[in-house]
Amino acid sequence: MTAQISRAANDSLAPNDLEAWWLPFTANRSFKQRPRMIARAKGMYYYTPEGLEVIDGAAGLWCCNAGHNRDEITQAIQAQAEELDYSPAFQFGHAGGFALASRLAQLAPGDLNHVFFCNSGSEAVDTALKVALAYWNAKGHGSKTRLIGRERGYHGVGFGGISVGGIVKNRQFFGSLLAGVDHLPHTYNREQQAFSRGEPEWGAHLADELERIVALHDASTIAAVIVEPMAGSTGVLAAPKGYLKRLREICDKHGILLIFDEVITGFGRLGTAFAAERYGVIPDMITFAKGVNSGAVPMGGVLVRQGLYDTFMKGPEHMIELFHGYTYSGHPLACAAALAAQDIYRDEKLFERAKTLEPVWADAIHGLKSLPNVLDIRTIGLVGAIDLASRPDAVGARAFEAMDRGFQDHGIMMRITGDTIALSPPLIITEEQIGEIVEKLTKVIRAVA
Ligand SMILES: Cc1ncc(COP(=O)(O)O)c(C=O)c1O
Repeated sequence: MTAQISRAANDSLAPNDLEAWWLPFTANRSFKQRPRMIARAKGMYYYTPEGLEVIDGAAGLWCCNAGHNRDEITQAIQAQAEELDYSPAFQFGHAGGFALASRLAQLAPGDLNHVFFCNSGSEAVDTALKVALAYWNAKGHGSKTRLIGRERGYHGVGFGGISVGGIVKNRQFFGSLLAGVDHLPHTYNREQQAFSRGEPEWGAHLADELERIVALHDASTIAAVIVEPMAGSTGVLAAPKGYLKRLREICDKHGILLIFDEVITGFGRLGTAFAAERYGVIPDMITFAKGVNSGAVPMGGVLVRQGLYDTFMKGPEHMIELFHGYTYSGHPLACAAALAAQDIYRDEKLFERAKTLEPVWADAIHGLKSLPNVLDIRTIGLVGAIDLASRPDAVGARAFEAMDRGFQDHGIMMRITGDTIALSPPLIITEEQIGEIVEKLTKVIRAVA
């Protein structure tokens, strides 16, 4: 009887119907009335099923740093699939995983010499938080369990990530979250920082709030602090000048681990391989995902400093040192795609390219300042954000319309959060294409005035 009922319900769904897929972080009802469909991509552009060319102002979702459908990456995935489709990473290994781990460890600053692979930024964050807790346990400091995040931080959607994260809507519907979490204040202040290029001058002192949190809880209860060097998903908030150095000093003073969530800033977005390099600060762990293989196959991971790794490598040799991992950790296809993407980054000097283009990009995006409803513009590396004034009683509606009309009518893909437009094009972008983005944005922002 039950089988019959469910069979009947399934029959009512047309093949390839838009109803079945519950899209993540999407206004589903509105999407299904006016879908934004993507059929293919190449280089800097997406193409709709009707053939409309859409310039990618967002590197997909901050991930396609080498541009789309790069032949080298496609061929590497194809070749790997023919050779070895899957191999378990629990107690077994494959050459591509080791090659990639070595490559990433070389790319990372300081002694961030070890890599733990997973499949997304959310998993990378949960992994880093668990490593921090297990590390203190292994050191005999089992009371160090508290985790410190930051207001407006985004660390993915796992329970660990939303607990240390600071975006209200991502937290408020999901119960009591992890216990023992506290938050630093966010670093944005429009009065002090409006229309900033690069690191805002104002705000380093906000790192001292960590001293207040330590005074409240005592360092003997605090395992780690996690921050994004540039908070991306909340609307592009670059760390103020000196802020991350100050955080590092306070963490060192009190014996607290510092984790940089570089899921967005990793792989050239701010003009260096990792933002840690740009800021001259070496954290104890770096989480990465997205750009590691230019978004071609799901992959994430955590870079871990030598001392942390060494702490785990003791006890009987047949014993597992860390009871953590994923079926698809270091998946052969993801590793092959990543090795090919890393070759492109190196051969085409894409991180340096982002650095060289930073002032051109900043001039272009800040040139939108006088358009209607623009309240603030922030740029750093190849990232930009434009805050638009909210419509009365309809927070988010103006930017939502900008995103929709941008895609449907003007051929530009952008990210939005609230009434902020966020931009992060592939690092292969040309000056002419920066001009195209600005021209299209100008039309869109006027259209939603
Ligand atoms: C800083 C940061 N951490 C974690 C994540 C989560 O990554 P994922 O969506 O791959 O789980 C994101 C995603 O945008 C991010 O920006």
